[in-house]
Amino acid sequence: MNILMIGGGGREHALIKCLNKSNRAQKIFCAPGNGGISRDAECFSIDVKNCDEVVALAKKVNADLVFVAPDDPLAAGVVDALNAKSIRAFGPTAMAARIEASKVFSKNLMKKYGIPTAGYEVFNNANDALEFIKDNNEYPTVVKADGLALGKGVIICANFDEAKSAVESIMLDKVFGESGNQIVVEQFITGPEVSVLSFCDGKCIKPMVSSMDHKRIFDGNKGPNTGGMGTISPNPYYTDEIAERCMSEIFLPTVKAMQAEGCPFKGCLYFGLMLTKDGPKVIEYNARFGDPETQVVLPRLQTDLCDIIDAVIDGTLDKLKIEWDNGAAACVVMASDGYPGKYKKGVEIKGIDENGNVDGAVVYHAGTSFDGTFKTAGGRVLGVTAVGNDLNEALRKAYVAVEKISFEGAQYRKDIGTTQWNGEV
Ligand code: AMP
Ligand code: GLY
Repeated sequence: MNILMIGGGGREHALIKCLNKSNRAQKIFCAPGNGGISRDAECFSIDVKNCDEVVALAKKVNADLVFVAPDDPLAAGVVDALNAKSIRAFGPTAMAARIEASKVFSKNLMKKYGIPTAGYEVFNNANDALEFIKDNNEYPTVVKADGLALGKGVIICANFDEAKSAVESIMLDKVFGESGNQIVVEQFITGPEVSVLSFCDGKCIKPMVSSMDHKRIFDGNKGPNTGGMGTISPNPYYTDEIAERCMSEIFLPTVKAMQAEGCPFKGCLYFGLMLTKDGPKVIEYNARFGDPETQVVLPRLQTDLCDIIDAVIDGTLDKLKIEWDNGAAACVVMASDGYPGKYKKGVEIKGIDENGNVDGAVVYHAGTSFDGTFKTAGGRVLGVTAVGNDLNEALRKAYVAVEKISFEGAQYRKDIGTTQWNGEV
């Protein structure tokens, strides 16, 4: 089959490399792609949030399947537009993608169907929110913009002044635009975090192997949040016992809830979980593969991804056995100087070959360009990933590979895979 991948980061590069292993995948195209992806797929520059442009490109390249990976095009209804033209697409409809695109929708869904999550209130105006926060007088408190905000819409506030500036910047200054028309004020909860991606065909759900993201920019979980500075799989906190609990208390109820609401979820449903003293709770849902979780989950997949995609689209997931290797994987993100703030682009990357690879690891390109040599073109530049029999081996191999690669100002965390959580479990 001819496959068109929508997106252009490390996640899409990992999906493409995984699809390239399938003997069912004939030609792979990507829009917009990036420098590294251009070595594995033919890239096209289009506006991926524009449904007409995606449909036109799918027709032009004769795509048998369009894989919509990022949140924005999913929320914009790209899958609906493709389906309307009878083009097969992997990903949820816009109605189902609300589980990520609207925090108000997802929190209300969890409340209605008894799915464990942090307590919350929804507000449509800043004054009411501030009055509630003042009366409630519990810190830290968590302020979340309703809509998509490039992963920056969650603000943890240590006191009233911080909460006031968070509410005002989201609701009055509209720093996230329309995404800030409503906010959720949430109870602060603590515990180790686990990412569980799952395949879901609307009725049946099959969780993938677990993973752990490292969201802060600096070692020891310090500094501002980023898109993710590295990942490991499996997540050491996610025991079989917790997995069983999550299945019965969270995963199955979520799938049934989406069905009951008339928007069954088809695609990859991502559960951002926190393992609290009172049991696992949902921190957030994403309607897509995580980035950089995908980079450590897919290298462990042993079943043909094309077969899984078909089962998800056709609603036959219950009949497919999905197999994973028993080892581990680790991904270390190399980022530009200054990220997650302002950073320079166009810095030459040394130590990778003409296809963007390095010995002993797989290099997923997140933000690179290619014009004969690879240059930086984003905040997160590379996700250097290795697999091993256990986490120690995977991490060692990933860091050996990182040492071979350099670019001016490159920053990466030295503590990926070490314990993220210092409290009780
Ligand atoms: P998100 O952008 O939704 O992934 O949230 C970013 C991070 O904020 C999460 O990974 C958590 O570490 C933290 N967070 C979100 N909601 C809460 C909460 N209710 N209590 C404590 N931490 C939270
Ligand atoms: N790594 C978190 C996310 O993809 O949202």
